[in-house]
Order: sequence, then structure tokens, then C-alpha cells
Amino acid sequence: MRKRVLSGMRPSGKLHLGHYIGVLVNWKKLQEEHDCFFFAADWHALTTEYDRTAVIRESIDDMIIDWMASGIDPARTTLFTQSHVPEHAELHLLLSMITPLSWLERNPTYKEQLREQTTRDLHTYGFLGYPVLQAADILMYDASLVPVGVDQVPHLELTREIARRFNFLYRESFVIPEAYLTETPKLMGTDNRKMSKSFGNAILLSDTAEEVWVKVKPMVTDPARIRRTDCGNPEICNVFSYHKIFSDEETIGKVDTGCRTAGIGCIECKKWMYEGMEKVIKPIREERLNILESGVSVRDILEAGTANAKKVAAAKMTEVRDAVRI
Ligand code: TRP
Ligand code: SF4
Repeated sequence: MRKRVLSGMRPSGKLHLGHYIGVLVNWKKLQEEHDCFFFAADWHALTTEYDRTAVIRESIDDMIIDWMASGIDPARTTLFTQSHVPEHAELHLLLSMITPLSWLERNPTYKEQLREQTTRDLHTYGFLGYPVLQAADILMYDASLVPVGVDQVPHLELTREIARRFNFLYRESFVIPEAYLTETPKLMGTDNRKMSKSFGNAILLSDTAEEVWVKVKPMVTDPARIRRTDCGNPEICNVFSYHKIFSDEETIGKVDTGCRTAGIGCIECKKWMYEGMEKVIKPIREERLNILESGVSVRDILEAGTANAKKVAAAKMTEVRDAVRI
């Protein structure tokens, strides 16, 4: 039997290269050999965007188009919207009964977000329960693999603990899932902070070739390399980290020596990196346009996927209610 794979992404509009390198490459690989379910986590978006909900629904279409442009194939994989499968909410409720508060309060992602999100109050019941909802998403589908970014590992650990607790308290009902991580190092934004659309430091999958260059050209380099004749240290340069992801071995070697000996200039170096990056983005950009021109309806794709997800979820909930005897 093929292994079940599940993952979700919060709809936040058009996706950037970090999404592609960190997550979508893995999704694409996994869909070759597994039974995959990928969904738009709109309820999770609501935990932080509860006061500007209009963007959530609009963002779903853009996100799904980027998934498909990146090679996620709705003919092989189930794509759906979380809020259209209300069974997730029911399972979330049942799991919330057995999840100790302390597990949620000590979650590092939770503590970090509370500190960082200063523009809105996140001291809500829903936000604390974010990982319980995520556990429900995963356990519902008996997923054994969950491809996510490293930042999600604490949530996966919690999911495993909640599943074990349920299996122990009631009856063996849930598969214990494992995180599936990418080996590629995390892609930082063009200013060396976390890549995020809100920081304006993200390269979007839908950017034109010109737009990509406009973002690459002013990228922060080794700050000690002020003049062209100054030698640089590639290991502290963000452009070099990008080279390691997008360039071939030969180019990486050329940059490494050229930078240390002031044999190359930073603009030249960025041009080479840009060429490698374009090899990745160009096909995605073209596929995106194909999809838009072909007139395929994202709504129809999500509707079909949601019907499929609902079948699995309804069967699982019958089993779960029975285990809880409710
Ligand atoms: N929390 C995930 C994120 O922010 C999104 C998500 C929600 C998810 N439910 C999930 C990921 C279930 C994997 C499995 O990226
Ligand atoms: Fe960075 Fe390249 Fe300039 Fe070296 S030459 S500092 S690696 S941009």
C-alpha cells in the first residue's frame, strides 16, 4: 500500500522562492510515489488574521496556482481547503480535551510568535490551540509523512505526543506521523532576514525576469568588501548561500576563489547567481501563464479534492467517535 502524505500551507497569496525550495520541491518529489493530500490551511490563517479575513479567501487561488505551476499535479494529488472539511474542527475539539495546556504553552513557535507579532493580540484560545488543529489535520488522514519546513518540527512533535496519548487513553486509532524535511539550507530574504513578503525581501514565483534582477542586484554582500579591489569572504555573504542552492559546482568554485582574491566583482557574481536562479523560476513562471491561459478553474480542482478528502475524513471520524464512545 502506498504511504499517505499530508501537508498544509497557510494561504498568504503569491508564493516565494523560499516556499518552493523549502516545501514544494519535497511535495513534488513525494507525489511521485505516495498518496498525497495537500491543503490550504485557511483556519490556521484565521488564528493570526482574524481581523483581516478578506485576504484569506482571495489568497487561496493564488497559492494553488503557484502549487500547480511548481509541479503539484491535481490529477495525482488531492488538493483541498481545510475549512470545507469541517471534520477537522470536530477532531480538533476531541483532541483538545486530552491535550495538556503545558504542552501548548511551552511550544517554542508559540512563544516566539507571541513575542514577534506586536501588531495584533495573539493571546487567544484559538492561537494557543494552533498545534492541536494541526494535529487534527494530520491524524485525520493517517499520514505517515508530513513534509514541512524545519520551523514546523515542534508542531510535528506535539502531534505525535497527542496521537500517542489518544491511542493510549482510548484505542489504537492514529498513525504516528514523521516530519519529512528538506536537505537544502533555508533560503533567507534578499536582505538576509527571514524571507517574507511583508518584509519586501522575497523573490516571488510569479516575478518577471526583470523583477527578479531588480531584487537580486542590490542584495547585501560581504559588508567588508566596499571596493572592487577588496577581497571578500563568501562564507558570510548571502549571495554565496544562494549560489550554493542555484549554481553548479563549477560556478560555486569560481565564485569562491574570485571573491577571496578580488578576481570578480559583486555584480558579476550576482549575475551568475541570477542565471542559475532563473533556470528554476523560468519554467514555473511559464507554467503559471499556461495555467492562467488554459482557463482551468481552481474552484473546480478544490471542489473535487475536497470531496475526496471528505470521504477519508468522514470514515476516520466514525472510527474516532467510536473509540471515544461518543
Ligand atoms: N502550520 C503550518 C505552517 O504554518 C501549516 C499547516 C497547518 C500544516 N496544518 C498542517 C502543515 C498540517 C503540515 C500539516 O506552515
Ligand atoms: Fe558576495 Fe559574490 Fe560579492 Fe563575494 S563576490 S561578496 S560572494 S556577492
